[in-house]
This record gives sequence, structure tokens and C-alpha cells, in this order.
Amino acid sequence: MTDAINTGLEGVIVGQTELSNVEGDVGRLTYRGESIDTLVERDFPAVIIWLMAGHWISPDECRELDKWLADESELSAVEHQVLAQLPRDTHPMAVLQALTPIAHLEPMRTPPTWLEQTWVPGLVLAARINAAVRIWHNLATHGAPFDVPDGLGFLEKLLYGLNREAPGQGALKAINTTQILQLDHSFNAGTFAGRVIASTGASLSASIAGSLGALSGPLHGGADEAAVMMARDIGDASRADTWVRDALANKVKIMGMGHREYKRLDPRAAILKPMAKHFCEGTQWQPLMETLMAVEDTCQAVFSEKGKEIHANLEFYKGAVYLALGVQERYFTSLFACSRVFGWISHFHEFNRAPRLIRPRALYSGR
Ligand code: ACO
Repeated sequence: MTDAINTGLEGVIVGQTELSNVEGDVGRLTYRGESIDTLVERDFPAVIIWLMAGHWISPDECRELDKWLADESELSAVEHQVLAQLPRDTHPMAVLQALTPIAHLEPMRTPPTWLEQTWVPGLVLAARINAAVRIWHNLATHGAPFDVPDGLGFLEKLLYGLNREAPGQGALKAINTTQILQLDHSFNAGTFAGRVIASTGASLSASIAGSLGALSGPLHGGADEAAVMMARDIGDASRADTWVRDALANKVKIMGMGHREYKRLDPRAAILKPMAKHFCEGTQWQPLMETLMAVEDTCQAVFSEKGKEIHANLEFYKGAVYLALGVQERYFTSLFACSRVFGWISHFHEFNRAPRLIRPRALYSGR
């Protein structure tokens, strides 16, 4: 009898989680039972604690956490030296993967007293990752670090540091939304990779470094950068139809389209598309947004001609929002990591409440 092989683990249930639920058939995503449609109205730090610990913090606690995370969003002198040694063309995801295992996890400032001690190292690591993106962007793009003013909120500091100017209210609302939408997504490749590493008894940093590697791939988080590069390659909405038909005829994947779990529109894309349209309208990014919309239309038309369905995923329109916020495409996936790291940490702790080594079998096909 031949053993059944499921290389992509499609449909295989390998564990339980109470953190997030992807209901692919109806196109719904919830974190601990709350729909992302309502979660995006909340503040990012409050949603982090909701995901991690399962309770809502008060507005005062939220402000305190926001300030503490912003303050912790700095690197030690050693970490600065490591970044300074790296070739300037190193991809931000490689920078994060290199820095994470050696990241300094002692808080620089006293954490909020109400914060459970268990969460502190993870939150510090997440803040360091946010800091590394901001600091690397300045080193790689401008050749020097940039001092952001004191007293900013966590996401405000990130955006201020990337653009070297104060973000407006609209930009702050947009980054709050994108980062909430990317916090967690059940057993996606990056999260599962982190759980596999956690199952060996490895450290939190080791687990997060592995998740970062998985996220960087173009079939996963790296699709955000790849979708915008594709739109740039196409150049103009009027060329999208021919380009997409050609690509599909040659079995080329359209980045940002399709999803393993969602058989309907990815609910994150449903929120991001109108945001992207709004932010790009009348800006230099409008033609790129129009190209993306034309790609989506043709892709759906070609699939429907074959009696199939395909929809945009999280990655398709997110890049247009990020571009309108002043973020270069090279930094998209690292900004994704800045949010998803909180989900990975939650999974690390959830997994370690009932750990067991993950060790599947292979069917030997050698001599
Ligand atoms: N472009 C072209 N064809 C596609 C696409 C796409 N984006 N997505 C699926 N298909 C086709 C496949 O070619 C395949 O066709 P076939 O049956 O004729 O061979 C069929 O649809 C099934 O596709 P698979 O790749 O087997 O489906 P799977 O569930 O493994 O793929 C995936 C999901 C990897 C996301 C796929 O849709 C894809 O490669 N998309 C592009 C990359 C991307 O956007 N990734 C980001 C996902 S969201 C995230 O990770 C945060």
C-alpha cells in the first residue's frame, strides 16, 4: 500500500489555536472571535493585547503601552554596530533575520505594571524589529541614522522614522489599519515555521527568525513587494490585459492573487482596496493603482472563462497603500513583519502551553 502524501499540507489539521480563525468559505477573519472589520476601528496596541492575552485594555493602558513600545523601539549600541557593518544593499528581511537571534530582549524602560511578565520579552523583541526596520531604512537609503523626536506613539515613530517627517492623521489611521490586518492569520507558512521551531524547545528569537525567513518568500509575505514590481513592469493599465493573459498562458503566477484558504475575497483585501484607491487618487500612485485594478479584472476574467474563481489577497493592494504612505516597496515585507511578529509571539506562547516536537514522516524514494 502506498502512503498518501500531502506535500502542501492542504486541509491537514496539525494543531489548535484560539488566536485567529480564517473562514475561507465565507471570506471572514477573526482574532479571538472579533471580526477584523470591527478590530480595525481600534488602536493597534489594544488589538495586540486582545490577540495575545484575550482581554481589552483601558484607553489609559493603551496610551501607556503605545508609549512604552515606542520607547523600546530602539536598538542597543551592539545592534547598531551590526547594522552599520552590513552591505547597504542587504534586503530588509535579511537584515531582520540576521539581527533577530541576537536582539537584546531586556527592556530599556520599565514595562507597564499591569503587563503580564510573560509577554515582556516578546513585546521588546517586536519593538526591536520595528526599530531595526526604521534604522536600517535610514542607513541604507540616507547613509545615516535619523533621530525621531521623543514622545511619539509606536506606529507614529515607525512612520516618522521612515519618512523623516511627521505623519498626518490620515496616514496614522492607515498604518493602524494595515498593521491590525496583518497581525495574525492562523497557521500560515511563517507562523507554522515558528511553531515548528518552538517545538524543538528553541528560543523565542530563534522561532521568530525562522518565521521571518518564511515570510520573506514571494508566495507568502514577499508577494506585497512582488505585486508592485509586477505593476511597475506592466507600466500602464492599458497593457494589463495582454500582459496578464500572456503570463497566465505561460503558467506565471500573478503576485497578490489567489489564496490557499480563501475561496471568496480575502477580507483584508476588501478593506485595503478602497483605502488604496482613496490614498492613491490624484497622486503619482494613481496609474499604478489603476494597473493593479486592471490586472485583477483580467485575472478574474481568465479564471472565470475556465469556470474557476480567483481573488486578490492581502498583498495585492497593500503595497499601493504603503507607497502612498511613503514606504518604498523594498520595505513592504519588513513592515508586514513589524506587525505579524506580535502574532508569532502569541503563537510561540500558545504552542508552549502544550508543546510537542513536530516531526512528520517522509516517504523514502531513494535507492
Ligand atoms: N496566479 C496564477 N495562477 C494561480 C494563482 C496566481 N496568483 N494562484 C493560484 N493559481 C492557479 C495555479 O496555477 C493552479 O492552477 P492549476 O490547477 O491549473 O495548476 C491553481 O490556481 C491552484 O493554485 P496553487 O498554487 O496550487 O494553490 P495554492 O493553494 O498552493 O496556492 C498561493 C496559494 C501560493 C497563495 C497561490 O495562489 C499563489 O502563488 N499566489 C501568488 C502569490 C501570493 O500572492 N502569495 C501571497 C498569499 S497571502 C499571504 O501569504 C499573506
